[in-house]
Formats: sequence, structure tokens, C-alpha cells
Amino acid sequence: MTATDFLDRRDAEADLGPATWGWRGRARRWSGGLIKPKMGARETAYHEDRQLIQKDFDGPRTIAFINPKGGAAKTTSVLAAGYTFGTVRGGGVVAWDNNETRGTLGIRGARSAHRNTTRELLEDLGRFKDVYQSRIGDLGAFVRSQGDAHFDVLASDERPDVTGVIHAKDFVEVHQLLERFYRVILVDTGNNMRAENWLAAAEAADLLVVTSTVREDTGYSGLWMLDALQDAGYANLKYKTVTVLSDPSDKVDTRLAQDLTQVYEQRTRGVYRVPYDPVLVAGSVVPYHQLSAETRRSWLRACAGMAAAL
Ligand SMILES: Nc1ncnc2c1ncn2[C@@H]1O[C@H](COP(=O)(O)OP(=O)(O)OP(=O)(O)O)[C@@H](O)[C@H]1O
Ligand SMILES: [Mg+2]
Repeated sequence: MTATDFLDRRDAEADLGPATWGWRGRARRWSGGLIKPKMGARETAYHEDRQLIQKDFDGPRTIAFINPKGGAAKTTSVLAAGYTFGTVRGGGVVAWDNNETRGTLGIRGARSAHRNTTRELLEDLGRFKDVYQSRIGDLGAFVRSQGDAHFDVLASDERPDVTGVIHAKDFVEVHQLLERFYRVILVDTGNNMRAENWLAAAEAADLLVVTSTVREDTGYSGLWMLDALQDAGYANLKYKTVTVLSDPSDKVDTRLAQDLTQVYEQRTRGVYRVPYDPVLVAGSVVPYHQLSAETRRSWLRACAGMAAAL
């Protein structure tokens, strides 16, 4: 490896941002900005992705993350997308765990002083009925701020004794409320496609994100789900769907990855690969600031693809 390669890689790994990338970045930095070389391809692409994510929508937008197989990286993807949309847009983003049973978004997001969830919000919806009196600050009693990641998490029911289900009507009411206070709503979903709240999320979404790992069972389960949605008459399914394909370990079956990419490219608008990241394995609170530079860059690309589709 040459010294320049080494410096380039070190800068990229440290994620110091495009101002410091490659020889152009170093010339800019060392000359105190006096030398301004033209942006390289990598830097241009980085800025274009950020601009796409920052674009103004003409109303709130909802993205549902779906795959009926457990362990398909839905929850991880919602948090990574929350972090990316949140930091790049500077807020206005909520990640909502719409699991029919206890989901893990609340466990994997940063904690709060309160333990309220969608269930408590549903019980207290009355206080938001008056659109002139209710304030976004009042939602602070139910959502959990993700700090520097600049988005909020609305967790799913965490009470062990509750047997109640979330009905389609409940989904619609909470969704309408979130639409009043957020610009981007990311919906995590469960594994039962027949659940009323799953179907309501698919119906309400402006964009569906099929998440899958590079594994046959998870990949096929996503395709089976797309067939089922197609058969159920979902209009423009390909047009309103993108795929995020995660590496399940640091060694990936490249043949399977290629096959899955090819088949999902035919079924959805685009396929975005995201790497395996060891800091995500533990399944505990996502340490946003420890995500690798490659993970962050890949999610920037994936979220730009989502924004472009909205
Ligand atoms: N890119 C990645 N690198 C490393 N580990 C990952 C990655 N993506 C997901 N994981 C890990 O895989 C496990 C399953 O992921 P996740 O919980 O997001 O799946 P899920 O589809 O939400 O599952 P469920 O349907 O059971 O809720 C988690 O422990 C997560 O930390
Ligand atoms: Mg999950």
C-alpha cells in the first residue's frame, strides 16, 4: 500500500467527511482553504446523496420496513435509517415500532426517563384531539429522543400482561398524529402479514423497504411477501418498493448476494447493500457514533435512494 492509499483509507475510516478525503481534501486542509481542487467523484456522490436526503417533501412521508421472517434486519434498518435521516435532515424524524407483539425497537434505541409506548399513547390520544391546543412537546411523554442521532423512537407495547392487539383503526389514529408532528415516519413491522396493523402500515406507506440479509430463507421470504402483496392487488408495487440487503457476517456468500441482488432488482426500484458491522451484533442499544464509516456511507446511499423514491 502506498502512503497516499494509506492516508486515503485512514481518512475514510475515520469518517472525517469529504473535506478531508484524498489528496484533494488534504490540499484543502493543509492550505487552510486557499487551494480548492475540484471535487472528486466520491465527494460529489457524497454531496448528492446528502442533498437527496435533505429534499423538501410536500407533506409527511411514511416508510415501512417489511419482511415476515424474523432476523431480517428490519429493526436494525429502521434505527440506521432513523440515524441517517435524523442527522442529515437535522430532525423531524420518528421511528415507530408497529409490532403486534413486543418489538425490539425500544430495547435497541436510546432509553428515556419514561417507559411509555404506543399502548400508553393510544390510551391518552384524547389529549391530542384538539389540534390547536396539542403541542409536539406533549409527545415527549411517549417518544424517546435518540440524542445526537436526532430522531425519536415510539416503542411498541412493553407490558407483559397485555393481550390486546393493535387494530387497523389504532394504527390510523397514531399515524395521523405522527403525521402532524413529523416529516419522516419510519415504521418497523412484525412478522405476521395478516395482522391488521401490518396491513394498515403497508397501506399507509408511501414507500416500502424490503429488508433482507444475504441468506436464502430471508431472501425468499421477502420475495414471497412481494408475491402476496401483488396478489392482494397492491398497485405500483415495484414503483413504491426498494430493497436493503445486509451482510449477515463478515464472510458473505458472493454468489447468493449476486442472485438476490439480481432478483430484487427486477422486483423493486433498487437494491442497496449494507455491510456487516460488528457493533450491531450484540443486539443492545445501537451505538450510533461507533458505526463504521462504511456502514454510515452505505446507509447514506440507501436513504438517498429512499428519498429519491418519495
Ligand atoms: N448489518 C449488520 N451487522 C451486524 N449485525 C446485524 C446487522 N443487521 C442486523 N444485525 C443483527 O441481526 C439481528 C437481527 O436483526 P433485527 O432484530 O434487526 O431483525 P428483525 O427483522 O427486526 O427481526 P424480528 O422480526 O425478530 O424483529 C440483530 O441482533 C442485529 O443486531
Ligand atoms: Mg424487529
